[in-house]
Amino acid sequence: MLPINEIHTMDCLQGLTKMSADSVQCTVTSPPYWRQRDYNHKGQLGQEPTPEGYINNLLAITAQIHRVLRPDGLFWLNLGDGFYHSSGSRSKRAGATIAQDLLGTAYQPKELIGLPWQVALAIRSQGWMLRQEIIWHKPNGMPESVKDRCTRNHEYIFMFSKQPDYYYDPAAIGQPLSEATLKDKRLCNPCVAGPIRPQRGYPGAAQQGSRLLRPNGTLSTDPADPATASRQPAAQSQAWANRRSVWTIAPKGFKGAHYATFPTSIPELCIRCSTRPGDLVLDPFMGAGTTALASSYTGRSYIGFEINPTYVKLAKNRLLRELGLFCGQPG
Ligand SMILES: C[S@@+](CC[C@H](N)C(=O)[O-])C[C@H]1O[C@@H](n2cnc3c(N)ncnc32)[C@H](O)[C@@H]1O
Repeated sequence: MLPINEIHTMDCLQGLTKMSADSVQCTVTSPPYWRQRDYNHKGQLGQEPTPEGYINNLLAITAQIHRVLRPDGLFWLNLGDGFYHSSGSRSKRAGATIAQDLLGTAYQPKELIGLPWQVALAIRSQGWMLRQEIIWHKPNGMPESVKDRCTRNHEYIFMFSKQPDYYYDPAAIGQPLSEATLKDKRLCNPCVAGPIRPQRGYPGAAQQGSRLLRPNGTLSTDPADPATASRQPAAQSQAWANRRSVWTIAPKGFKGAHYATFPTSIPELCIRCSTRPGDLVLDPFMGAGTTALASSYTGRSYIGFEINPTYVKLAKNRLLRELGLFCGQPG
C-alpha cells in the first residue's frame, strides 16, 4: 500500500495497481478530456487518436478504481464534451484522424461527440452502477464565438456505485429550502416561525465534526464560530432540501500554472455526502491538488496520482500554502 496524504508522481494506472483492494471510500476525479489539452507528459491520457482509444484507456483505469473502492463507496467522474473537427485550435489536432462513435458511425465536422455519455455507458458495462448524472452549470462559463448553436456552460459529473446500497449522507450537502416551502412550513407549524433557513454552507457539515472553512479561508471546529453555527440549526430542524442535480458553481481559476482545475466546491460536495471524517478519498488525476485540498478541509485523508512532476510540485506548494501544517513538505 502506498503512503496516504500524498500525491504520488506516477502514471495513475501504475499507481492504482499498488493500492490494496477495498481501501478507498470515495473517488473524485476529472481526467483529461479527449484531445482538449496537452499536459506535456509522455503517457498522459487524452491524446489517443480516436475516442474509442481514449475510452479503452480510461476503462483500464476505472477497472482499478472499482477494485480499490470499498463496496459501499462512490465514484464521481467529471467530464466535459467537445465538438469534432471544429474550427477551434484544440480540436484541429483531432481532425487528423477519422473518429467514430462506439457504434461505428463516423463523426461529421462540427458534430458534438457525446463523449461523457459514451464514457459513462462504457463504465457501466464494466459492472458499475450508474446512479446519477449531475449537471455542473457554470454561471460564468467561457464565451464562445459560435452563431449556429448555444454557448455551452455545463459539464457532467457522473456518480457510480458498486452496489445498490452505499454510504450517502444527504444532509451533509442539503440546500436551503425555497421561500415557498418555508412559507408552507410556517403555516403548517407555528413553532417553525423563526429564520430557519441556513445562511450558507451544507447543513450536515457541522455534525460530521469536520474542520470548516471560514469565509476568510481559515479553518474552524468551534461551534461558537459563526461559520460553524450557520451550518448547525438547519439539520436539527430539517430545514433543508435534498440537493438538486444541477449544481451551479462558478469555475474559479486557480492562479498557478495549471489551466484545468475544478473549483474546490465540486470535490467538497462529493466528499461530504459520500464519506465520513477520516475516510480515504482518491483522485487518480490530481492536477493542482484540488481534491486533496477539499479532503483536508473536510477532515478526510487523500491519496492521488499525477503524471507530470511540475504539477505535483505545484499541488504540494498549494497544499502547504493553504493548509499550513496539515500536510507534508513540498517535494
Ligand atoms: C483535468 S486535469 C485535473 C485537474 C484537477 N482536478 C485539479 O483541480 O487540479 C488532469 C490531470 O491529469 C494528469 N494526467 C494525465 N494523464 C495521467 C495519467 N496517466 N496518470 C496520472 N495523471 C495523469 C494531467 O497531467 C493533468 O494534470
